[in-house]
Amino acid sequence: MKTIFPYSFLILILFTGCSPEEEITTITFNLGRDPTGAHYAIIELFEETYPNIKVQVVESPQDASLQHDLYVTRFAGKDNSIDVIALDVIWIAEFARAGWLLPLDDLALTLPMDDFLPGPVEACTYRDTLFAIPWFTDAGLLYYRRDLLNEYGFDEPETWNDLQIIVDTIRRDNPQMNGFILQAEQYEGLICNVMEFIWSHGGSVWDESGHWRTATPETEKAIQTLIDFIRTDDIIPRGVLTYQEEESRHIFQDGRAIFLRNWPYVWELANNPATGSNVVGNVGIAPLPGEKPGLHAATLGGWNLGISAFSDHPDESRKLIRFFMDYHHMKQFSLEGGRLPTRMSLYKDPDILQRSPHFEDLFEVFINARPRPVTPHYSQISDIMQVNIHRALLGRISVREALERIDAEVLALFERYGK
Ligand code: GLC
Repeated sequence: MKTIFPYSFLILILFTGCSPEEEITTITFNLGRDPTGAHYAIIELFEETYPNIKVQVVESPQDASLQHDLYVTRFAGKDNSIDVIALDVIWIAEFARAGWLLPLDDLALTLPMDDFLPGPVEACTYRDTLFAIPWFTDAGLLYYRRDLLNEYGFDEPETWNDLQIIVDTIRRDNPQMNGFILQAEQYEGLICNVMEFIWSHGGSVWDESGHWRTATPETEKAIQTLIDFIRTDDIIPRGVLTYQEEESRHIFQDGRAIFLRNWPYVWELANNPATGSNVVGNVGIAPLPGEKPGLHAATLGGWNLGISAFSDHPDESRKLIRFFMDYHHMKQFSLEGGRLPTRMSLYKDPDILQRSPHFEDLFEVFINARPRPVTPHYSQISDIMQVNIHRALLGRISVREALERIDAEVLALFERYGK
């Protein structure tokens, strides 16, 4: 008996990595489906470092609007099965105001917060309190077929008109090719794409004195350009009205499109032969065009890690978030997934720059990416915009009608709930 007990004790330690008194806590990590899968390696490392914490990954659909609605239902029911959650930049004000997220100022004290990009940090702050830590950031970019543009003697397009000329010229010889692909299904991604058209035509949705107003000549022109590209000029195929990020990525990496608007993750996947990409080594990347040279704009996207206010494991959850934010772990995550790190020092890291040289050239685009309206009512505003703009893209209502309806509905919303 005397010899057997210490022996079985040793076996227990070897197998579980922790003493019998230490219980294993399982926390859930909730995120949208990530086609890069780069988080799994970091989680494995975390579980090795903290043998008494297990992480169960719970993936929801990649569609940001669907994810939002799923989480709202679960939070409203005070569901305690969510611990760590990856939050889209646009949800934080809404979820924090509803009391669904734990304040994370204490966690921030253990991190070099001045190394984090200011835009995403601001997006994670609600009423001077940090409710999430920026995990990776996103900015809309233009991908193009470098080989084709070279063959036809074109530089990167600076204006929408340049893009149109390039598409028309190349398609004359290659009519089976799609010109420009983007995401215009009725979901959150549509708003990201549309805002880039609006800003790059000098428009906006708030006027200078902070009043909501979309029905302006600039915004009307921006959306009309998008509609003409789709419906009359044959620059953008009509299929985009049902495309999200992944559908459009696949068409581009199959070699069936000259241009693609998408987020930074596409670089790594389109250049990786293991994904079945037909365009490895032939992908160029640039800021999106503008109506005039230099008037380009990118929508600020990105995902941030927060903790549910109903979690039973806030301490273990803090450990996981802290782990993801470590320089080396964020570096590994970015190297494997091509995601834009939120720590600025990583943009000078030689390994990162070797793998993603555009991180240096496009840094200005990333830090100047523009936020969608920051208000706890953003999701409702987005729904209003999605419905009306999508109807205009389908040709069911005019652009002016769509913008007037958006303004009337958003103003009614503000009147009812405040800004
Ligand atoms: C990306 C962005 C996110 C945006 C979503 C729209 O995931 O990071 O901010 O809402 O795309 O599809």
